[in-house]
Amino acid sequence: MKRAPYKTIWLSLPSKRYPIYCYTSSGWDQLASLPRQYPHSRLFLITDHVLARIYKNELKTLLATSRTAALDHQTNHPKNRPWSLITFPAGEHSKSHAVKLMLEEKLFKARCSRNDIIIALGGGVVGDLAGFVAATFMRGIKYISMPTTLVAMTDAAIGGKTGIDTPFGKNLIGAFHHPEAIYIHLPFLATLPHIEYLGGFAEIIKHALIRNVTLYKMLTTHIKSFEVSPLHNKRPMTATESVTASATGLFFKLLTESILIKVRVVIHDPLETAYRRILNFGHTIGHGIEILSDYKINHGNAVAIGCVFEAWLSYRLKYLPAEHFENIFSLIKNMHLPVTFPIAIKAPALYNACTRDKKNERKTASLTTTDTIKFVPLKKIGSVFAAKGTYLVSVEKAFFIKAFKDFQKWTDQHRH
Ligand SMILES: NC(=O)c1ccc[n+]([C@@H]2O[C@H](COP(=O)([O-])OP(=O)(O)OC[C@H]3O[C@@H](n4cnc5c(N)ncnc54)[C@H](O)[C@@H]3O)[C@@H](O)[C@H]2O)c1
Repeated sequence: MKRAPYKTIWLSLPSKRYPIYCYTSSGWDQLASLPRQYPHSRLFLITDHVLARIYKNELKTLLATSRTAALDHQTNHPKNRPWSLITFPAGEHSKSHAVKLMLEEKLFKARCSRNDIIIALGGGVVGDLAGFVAATFMRGIKYISMPTTLVAMTDAAIGGKTGIDTPFGKNLIGAFHHPEAIYIHLPFLATLPHIEYLGGFAEIIKHALIRNVTLYKMLTTHIKSFEVSPLHNKRPMTATESVTASATGLFFKLLTESILIKVRVVIHDPLETAYRRILNFGHTIGHGIEILSDYKINHGNAVAIGCVFEAWLSYRLKYLPAEHFENIFSLIKNMHLPVTFPIAIKAPALYNACTRDKKNERKTASLTTTDTIKFVPLKKIGSVFAAKGTYLVSVEKAFFIKAFKDFQKWTDQHRH
């Protein structure tokens, strides 16, 4: 039986309007209903090896039941199988040209056509990659997003940014391609490792910092109840189970408020001509950390350090009052997210890694111009500094290195 969504948020753009359904029930009955919803399409479910292993029984049932559902009534033989499953190794390294090509070859071999649909089941890596495959396959086919990590539920799945990494930097090749719908099912969080759950909070805190002081207050007031996922220690749920509203009440509110922030920013500036850049707060440094750690530090943790250090830079550049920086530091630390750089990360290397960010447009055509990094400055908790409508300020290398050293001194004194 298909359940009604607990909440539906619409993302309305000039070119497209689509729903973000938020459910407290399991996603498997939702998936099973898709062949009926799209009777003329085949469904290509793309996920990573970790999810394919954790949910192998559910996937087996899904593929089997859907096949029966699509029996030809006259011949009683299976019609075109509605589902195909395609998997790839989990992790950031799969957001690559090579894995994209592998997925495309599998789609061609399975004779995927223009009216078929990709279902991206997974975290931000699956969403970015499968979404980008959908964006370019036969010049663009439909896809549906079913995020399974907190990072993806609150951020990555929303807003139509799809893409892959290159040796030259993160997310440097990609496209804006919006899904038909986003299905968020909380029970997926039951199997999510705690470190990935916490990582999702970095994006939620980022949303509060850039736009919503009320959400920030909710985080600080109820931090104890958010430390552990409401689904923690629950076994994976069967297709017909759901978590009760009371078990997830506050968390669900936090999640949907965070989604609403992202949705409003995307609606305001879908193609990131300026305002949407504010969503990159914490990410100039965050991406640099991910690159330098060869993606061993996960996205959420890297963004957490990025938020703290970019708040520090905002303070040092006199945009952000000191007490706001201290408050942000405490919240991120109290959420058990990292607030300092790993010892292996040195300021000059970090600066160089950050210059590979997309936000660093060149001012002149000259290739000899030294690259400077740009980041989104905070003005106060809940609001960014507009910087004449660019939402970006530059930081010279010498200033950065000095700020990095001072930050280390300050955090040494305050981290315990
Ligand atoms: N497109 C955007 O707007 C946007 C925004 C934010 C982040 N991102 C991208 O998202 C990526 C990070 O996403 P992520 O943090 O979800 O990482 P991820 O997709 O790598 O998932 C993290 C790990 O959790 C596992 N996993 C996923 N769901 C699970 C579940 N329910 N149970 C158990 N294990 C599960 C995955 O297999 C993986 O090993 C980065 O590449 C980042 O650049 C994109």
